[in-house]
Amino acid sequence: MAEIIVALDHPSAEEALDLVRRLGDQGRFFKVGLELYTRAGPDVVRRLRDHGKRVFLDLKLHDIPNTVAGAVRAAAALDVELITIHTAGGLPMMRAAVEAAEGTMGLLAVTLLTSLSPSDVEAVWGREIRSIRDEVSRLAGLAEECGLAGVVASALETGWLRPQVGADFLIVTPGIRPAGADLDDQMRVATPADAVEAGASYLVVGRPVTQADDPLAALQALQAEVAAARAP
Ligand code: C5P
Repeated sequence: MAEIIVALDHPSAEEALDLVRRLGDQGRFFKVGLELYTRAGPDVVRRLRDHGKRVFLDLKLHDIPNTVAGAVRAAAALDVELITIHTAGGLPMMRAAVEAAEGTMGLLAVTLLTSLSPSDVEAVWGREIRSIRDEVSRLAGLAEECGLAGVVASALETGWLRPQVGADFLIVTPGIRPAGADLDDQMRVATPADAVEAGASYLVVGRPVTQADDPLAALQALQAEVAAARAP
């Protein structure tokens, strides 16, 4: 069954861990991204692990193969379960990362950032593209070929990506909003049920939980919706 990962997009470890405490046993899996990691460092990951929490380290690694492999080994030493790397780093980089992980953690591919428009992609890649969808499919295929565990994709991409990848290939889906909720800065959102029905393995949820008046109640409502939804 799909699971919810709560995004700890907080400016300090104390604020992040305070939320983790408020969620208690219902909060099992947490995402640490660039802001929190840059502020609080590996210590925040260790503290989450000390509380028995599962950790998704969303650092979107993109560097030469040797450097990325080193970072993956460092994350493995922290007992991280999922980590992101950019497919644009190349096949040798993805393969080096998979080798460095030694099966201890799942590597997730970032294909095209959802903030990029087709003309943004064309400007940096220096060629015309048929569509964002074609590029995401192609890059997800390369990630699967290189042995990555899955991909990060919006719920709207998940529906057409799921039939193209193996059943065990993870699709981790951000941009989740309960029906009628504030969209914040997200443009293309889906409800938890939509994401599960599209084939998501994990749903990344930030503000609908972290900014809720009652974060535990918000998380429980999301979990109930996930449990009631049917995977494809
Ligand atoms: O607060 P919200 O639910 O929008 O947070 C979603 C989380 O997923 C954030 O940590 C954000 O960085 C991440 N994310 C996203 N959209 C993407 C990739 C990652 O919202 N395309």
